[in-house]
Formats: sequence, structure tokens, C-alpha cells
Amino acid sequence: MQSLLKCIDCGAEYSVDRLIYTCQACDGLLDVVHDFDGLRGRISRELFDSRLGSLEDPFRSGVWRFKELVYPGVPDDLIVSGPEGNTNLYAVPRLARWAGVEHLWLKHEGENPTGSFKDRGMTGGVTQARRLGMAQVACASTGNTSASLAAYAARADMQAIVFFQEGQVALGKLAQALAYGATCMQIPGDFDTAMRLVQDVAHTLEIYLLNSVNPFRLEGQKTIVFEALQQLRWQVPDWIVVPGGNLGNSSSFGKGLKELVELGLIDRLPRLAIIQAEGANPLYRGYHTGFATRERVTARTLATAIKIGDPVSYPKAVRALHWTDGVVEQVSDQEILDAKALIDRAGIGCEPASACSLAGTRKLVAAGIIKPTDRVVGILTGHVLKDPGLIVDYHTGALEGIRSTYANQLHRAEPTLEAVRNVLIQAGKAF
Ligand code: F0G
Repeated sequence: MQSLLKCIDCGAEYSVDRLIYTCQACDGLLDVVHDFDGLRGRISRELFDSRLGSLEDPFRSGVWRFKELVYPGVPDDLIVSGPEGNTNLYAVPRLARWAGVEHLWLKHEGENPTGSFKDRGMTGGVTQARRLGMAQVACASTGNTSASLAAYAARADMQAIVFFQEGQVALGKLAQALAYGATCMQIPGDFDTAMRLVQDVAHTLEIYLLNSVNPFRLEGQKTIVFEALQQLRWQVPDWIVVPGGNLGNSSSFGKGLKELVELGLIDRLPRLAIIQAEGANPLYRGYHTGFATRERVTARTLATAIKIGDPVSYPKAVRALHWTDGVVEQVSDQEILDAKALIDRAGIGCEPASACSLAGTRKLVAAGIIKPTDRVVGILTGHVLKDPGLIVDYHTGALEGIRSTYANQLHRAEPTLEAVRNVLIQAGKAF
């Protein structure tokens, strides 16, 4: 049986050949569902392990290694792949001690081809665009989605159109979208305005929409946790901690993990901890009212990647929390930037939003929710070079309202040996 689109609210089903993003009956979000009965017996941990280190397309991709769980029916020659994935899982004992846990790993999705986890989603989404014969693709973005879409569209010979909040996109991301040849549109107004606009544009002009409302994106992104589990030799951690913005990633993790249990590939679910910035925290607010109401907020945070007040995948994230007995925490910009400075200083590096994973772990340990003996996997979502401006501002103390707790001072010396020696002595390095 082919994969289907299925509404998460009313259960209506649609063919994957339809050009739709939400349910035609009730406007609910759609899942891509696969024929697991047909898959049982054909897939195993050993099958996926046997493809590790493969040189063959599509299995050398860390997304398509799990093809049977991502999009089993798609012909290999339609797949648009970087290849992506195969990102490192770092054991970080020093950062674990700082967070207050014995076992912490950071999975670095900034090691994808365009420097963020979005590539895992884009390979799924752009492949589906090609399947449907689309020539133009679009997204609204805080930056990383647009960089990724621009690259994958270029590879697939499609035209990408990306919408940004004017003046709010980190330099690395804007540079990428321009470089890869996307049509870049700056919109006055916040991300949520741009998101609504692109949905209208896509619908009216028949351009394929590749925000994470597109369920084929989420099928790719769920492989982050598949790969992490594989790297842990399928030993399920107690927690997976992930930053939450538009909530596509957390939604995909919930779906993917539940599928692994249903297929017998793991025997229990890890708990999901979704971490939002204090100034962009609609899910956190909902969590504390038992999701009785859905609040939209005017987002404010220096972690521009997650500066989102009305996330499109909200209902799927709530479902993921329900399935995994998950929790939501919020962290301040100060906590985000200090955690980021420590991740950077460990030689790993990440963009600001990614550091929610470490800052949130520390906060949840302090609150007694994550236990010191728990095994924790934190997701680093983007590369350190995505937002170079903020790094320099942090280390030079130029951020208003932020203490540069872990600043690495930028020095200056006249070009003489004596001057350099003096600066080194002042900096506490004895010579
Ligand atoms: N971290 C980074 C680096 C991101 O770019 C994003 C989202 C997130 C975390 C949050 O992930 O939306 O799945 O909850 N960036 C999107 C973009 C919104 O447009 O690039 P999420």
C-alpha cells in the first residue's frame, strides 16, 4: 500500500499525489502515514545499521538510510539529496557537569550541508515537490529554512522564493539564501505575518509550500532521533531536549519515536523536553494551562531562529508532548547566550537558538525534572557561523541588557614583540 496523507484531527485521508498542506474537511494538520503492516518483517535495526557508511545513493544520506520509514514508495531517482545527516553525537562531560547530569550528548545538526537540521526536512520536501512536478517552491523563514530551501531548490533546478522578516535574519543565513540564488523577499512585520503571507502566495500562485506545515518535511526531520538512537546503539536515552520555534522538529520527533515503538525497533519512548525562549514562548504558556487555550505572543528574543509567536505545528507538538510524557521549559536570552558561549568554548559551537538545549537541560535539572543520573541527548540545531554578529557582540560586551559572562576578550597590540608580550601578560598568560 502507498503512503497516505491523514488529518491529525478528523482522520480524513488523502492521496500523496494531492497538492494540499492541511485537511480539506477541517483544516487540521496532515501527517504522512506509511503502511507499517507491509513494513513489518522487512525492516530491522540490523538493516539500518548495515547501511551505515554506505557509499550508495540514497542510503549514504542519514535521512534516506531510513527510507522505509521516511517515504518508502518514492523512486530513488527522484530523491533530491545533499546527502544530509550523518551528524556527530558528541559526548560532552564538561558541559554535562555544568548542566548537572552524568550523561549528556549533543547531536550537532549544524553539521548538515547548509548548516542546520532543515536539510533533513528539505530533502523530503523538495523530493515531494519534484514528484508533484512543481517548478517553484516557497517558504517564510527566520533564516535557516530559506538557506536550506535555496540550496535544495538549486540542486533540483527549481525556483525558490523565500520570505524574511525585514532586518531580523542572521547574516550567515541571509548570505546563503542570496548565494544559492533564491528570490529573497523582505517583509515588514514579524515572522508570523510572513508565514501567513507565504501560505496565501503558495495557494494562489500554485507554488509548492515548504514550511514545516508541509508534512514531507517532518518525515525527513524525524531521522534526527533515529540517527541519535542508532549512534547510542539503540539504547533509548531518558530525555531528548530540543529548542522549539515553529515546532516542526519536536512534532517530527514525537511521530518518529512513536513509530519506532510501534514497529518494535525500540521498547520505550524517551521523554521530550521542548525549550523555548522566554520572549517567544507560546507553547510554554499553553503547557502551563494544560493547553486549555492557545496564546499567540509578539515574539522577542536575540535567538532570531526561534523568534516565533504563533507556531504552525503547535497541535502536533502538543501531541508529541502527550505521547512522550514531555515537558516544556523556557530560558532567557541571558541563559541562551551563556550556554552558547560554553558550547562554543568546548570547541563544538552552535547558533544561539541551539543553545536552548543545554540551557534548558540545566534548568530542568535544577527544577528536579531531569534527574542527575538521567541520560540526555540535546539537539544542536544550527552551525556556529550562522550568526557571527551576535558572537562578536557578546564577546565585546555590546549587547544591551546582556552580561557577557563567558566573554573572550578581543585584544589589540601595536606590531612589536614588546607590545604583544605586554598584552599577553595583562591577559594573564605569563611570558
Ligand atoms: N533552531 C534553529 C537554528 C532554527 O533555525 C529553528 C527554526 C529552530 C531551532 C526551531 O525549530 O521551528 O522546528 O521548532 N527555524 C525556522 C526557520 C523557523 O525558518 O529557519 P522548529
